[in-house]
Amino acid sequence: MKVDVLLGLQWGDEGKGKVVDVLTPRYDVVARFQGGPNAGHTLEFEGQKYVLRSIPSGIFQGDKVNIIGNGVVLAPDLFMDEAKDLEKSGHELKSRLHISKKAHLIMPTHRLLDAAYEAAKGKNKVGTTGKGIGPTYTDKISRNGLRVGDILENFEEKYAAHKARHEEMLRALNYTDYDITEVERHWMEGIEYMKQFPLVDSEHEVNNLLKQGKTMLCEGAQGTMLDVDFGSYPFVTSSNTICAGACTGLGLGPNKIGDVFGIIKAYCTRVGAGPFPTELFDETGDKIRAIGHEYGAVTGRERRCGWIDLVALKYAIMVNGVTKLIMMKSDVLDSFETIKACVAYKQNGNVIDFFPYDINEGIEPVYVEMPGWNQDLTKVTSEAEFPKAFKDYIAFLEEQLETPIAIVSVGPDREQTIER
Ligand code: GDP
Ligand code: IMO
Ligand code: MG
Repeated sequence: MKVDVLLGLQWGDEGKGKVVDVLTPRYDVVARFQGGPNAGHTLEFEGQKYVLRSIPSGIFQGDKVNIIGNGVVLAPDLFMDEAKDLEKSGHELKSRLHISKKAHLIMPTHRLLDAAYEAAKGKNKVGTTGKGIGPTYTDKISRNGLRVGDILENFEEKYAAHKARHEEMLRALNYTDYDITEVERHWMEGIEYMKQFPLVDSEHEVNNLLKQGKTMLCEGAQGTMLDVDFGSYPFVTSSNTICAGACTGLGLGPNKIGDVFGIIKAYCTRVGAGPFPTELFDETGDKIRAIGHEYGAVTGRERRCGWIDLVALKYAIMVNGVTKLIMMKSDVLDSFETIKACVAYKQNGNVIDFFPYDINEGIEPVYVEMPGWNQDLTKVTSEAEFPKAFKDYIAFLEEQLETPIAIVSVGPDREQTIER
């Protein structure tokens, strides 16, 4: 069987969690392949709201197997808190949430290093989530990492050696004013808690499941514009968020990939520092933020808001091989008289329609303006009920992006989802 991959095409928070939850009944397995607790994936159903950080969003639909792949970085303390909360609300996890032994561990000192590096960057701060993501992936790539499989043998010894190395680095960064005694105690409790879950060789597991004819959905975290290779570097996260990340983050051959679902908002947001060509600094941006509740699910930070950027989206579709688009938060634009879409950039006076090497400076968006639909979409249940101006907006995006929009979301609830 083929594996479908679902990922964000913008700067994260596109609504991936909601769509994974909606699509899960069609799959046997849901797997995360990169990122860690920097993610905040929100799901709403039956009047309940959940925010998932490390646990795949397929966890709420029946007895599906959910896998945390080798490409993920895991903080045992945060994982324990998240899992216990779900268990308290009646969701059994221990038999159906499998964790790769090759996933890397985020240590308390990785979080300190995250803060220390940010402080050292001065005005060029990335605005990270502070979860230790960068330092953990750095240790992985520099062959210094600690993996989930390490907790099964001589762990205290390995932990102490890694901690000592981090403390030396913190001293070199003049970052010495901390006390992690309590955090460390909680973290170690998380290590013991994790041992109650199946710790697996997930590359064997996913390939065996596929051989048995099982279907699988891979859930991306962050978004394409935060990809370490193709995003708005250096204002990115530290993993490959694109489709190729599903191959390396789970041990899947590229020929196993089926559909690639690209998730977009009907507009665009970004949280943290870095360039954002279509950002709005006026009341239109404030209105999008207010109606769309655009505040970070992990850090509570205000999300920066702007119009949809088709130049960046075409690039994202290209590097991911997107086969179908899924448009979220359409309802947020219900009350706008006009809607804009960026179709080109002006760079140093020249109009360009491709995504350039560097968007950090001197990019001005070129917009096309369209009439809004001025109608409540939140109760619409079929495409036939779409207002004409909304149909026109969809048709315009499909034509520009040369990719079909297969699903349209008109509200945060599972039910507010329309397939076309
Ligand atoms: P993710 O990180 O991609 O999973 O997205 P987040 O959960 O961080 O942010 C998406 C937010 O939008 C969440 O609060 C969702 O509940 C909400 N949401 C998702 N789809 C829709 C939609 O179609 N309309 C509205 N109004 N909200 C939505
Ligand atoms: P989900 O999966 C939005 C951003 C941070 C910062 C940059 C680097 O919910 O879409 P990091 O902590 O990863 O080193 O921070 O990336 N960022 C996200 N922005 N949604 C996310 O995840 C994000 N994860 C990281 O704000 O700019
Ligand atoms: Mg999010």
